[in-house]
Amino acid sequence: MTNLLDASSSGLQTAARILREGGLVAFGTETVYGLGGDATQPKTVARIFEAKNRPRFNPLISHFADAQAAFTQVVANPLAHKLADTFWPGPLTLILPRAPHSTVSDLAADGLPTLAVRVPKGETVQALLKLVQRPIAAPSANRSGRISPSDAAHVLEELDGRIDAVLDSGPCQVGVESTVLDISNPERPTLLRPGGITLEALQAVCGTIFMPETEVDAAPASPGRLLSHYAPHLPVRLNATDVAPDEALLAFGNTQPSEAAISWNLSESGNLEEAAARLFTGLRTLDKQGQSHHLRGIAVQPIPQHGLGLAIQDRLNRAAAPRPALPPEDLPA
Ligand code: TXA
Ligand code: MG
Repeated sequence: MTNLLDASSSGLQTAARILREGGLVAFGTETVYGLGGDATQPKTVARIFEAKNRPRFNPLISHFADAQAAFTQVVANPLAHKLADTFWPGPLTLILPRAPHSTVSDLAADGLPTLAVRVPKGETVQALLKLVQRPIAAPSANRSGRISPSDAAHVLEELDGRIDAVLDSGPCQVGVESTVLDISNPERPTLLRPGGITLEALQAVCGTIFMPETEVDAAPASPGRLLSHYAPHLPVRLNATDVAPDEALLAFGNTQPSEAAISWNLSESGNLEEAAARLFTGLRTLDKQGQSHHLRGIAVQPIPQHGLGLAIQDRLNRAAAPRPALPPEDLPA
């Protein structure tokens, strides 16, 4: 079964040993919990997809303790160094050409000529990556298409029995995934996924940031941009200015409609950092309580469209998107 490890030195040693032996360990990062495995071992990477029930056409991010280690696997350009100096460790993933001698398996890179690399922030994940000294592939530690986990209990809800261990480092500080920026062509830095580093912060370093949707000849969109994603069981209604008696409310700010029987306020003071950190737990909580009270959906108040608001809205759009029939939560392996 899945071993729950604490962030003590013996917990870290155990987690590192499991990873080096090709096992799967979920661990906390500053963004969300990742489902980690040695990216150089194709069998391990295959187990990650299996544990998540994830479609195989999704390339994975390789995680490293520092930029020096990350840049052994890719061809870093001057912009990569500048971004790494500014934002690493931190919630930014860079897409760069794979180095000819890269040891990351084709399965982890999905056979692409590029590789996603990231240096996460946090004492526990940093200590773990230093011990392991391998590129660690780590998609978010949820079943494919479901809400990303922002604490160890969420990971166990989704993956207990399917992975070797969870390293508990407490709740995640940022709460939404890393920003994915394609700089394989440094002339056209392209935002593939909004996330923990804001568009404004990237623009301050890179100047113009390109968007795959609006640019005719931009790089192909991130293969992970499945429209329906982060999906709770209950349908989600966006930009709600009122709430029906049979809806749960995901509120933002201090203008929360008082009628809501079940609600979760992302941030009463209207703080977007706080809202991001509380997003996935809020969706999960409302989904559970709403279902047990036989509500018909989740209404979401408008989110300001600047700073981390873009990443929050992106996740909410996916939660609200039309979706294929979801497998039941307890689908056998
Ligand atoms: O915050 C995060 O990034 C978390 C934590 C655990 O680090 N990880 C995460 O991984 O969100 P995942 O696998 O759920 O999302 C990875 C994203 C996907 O959208 C994927 O398509 C994109 O990165 N990606 C990975 N490699 C790529 C590549 N070579 N080119 C374009 N997009 C890539
Ligand atoms: Mg994910």
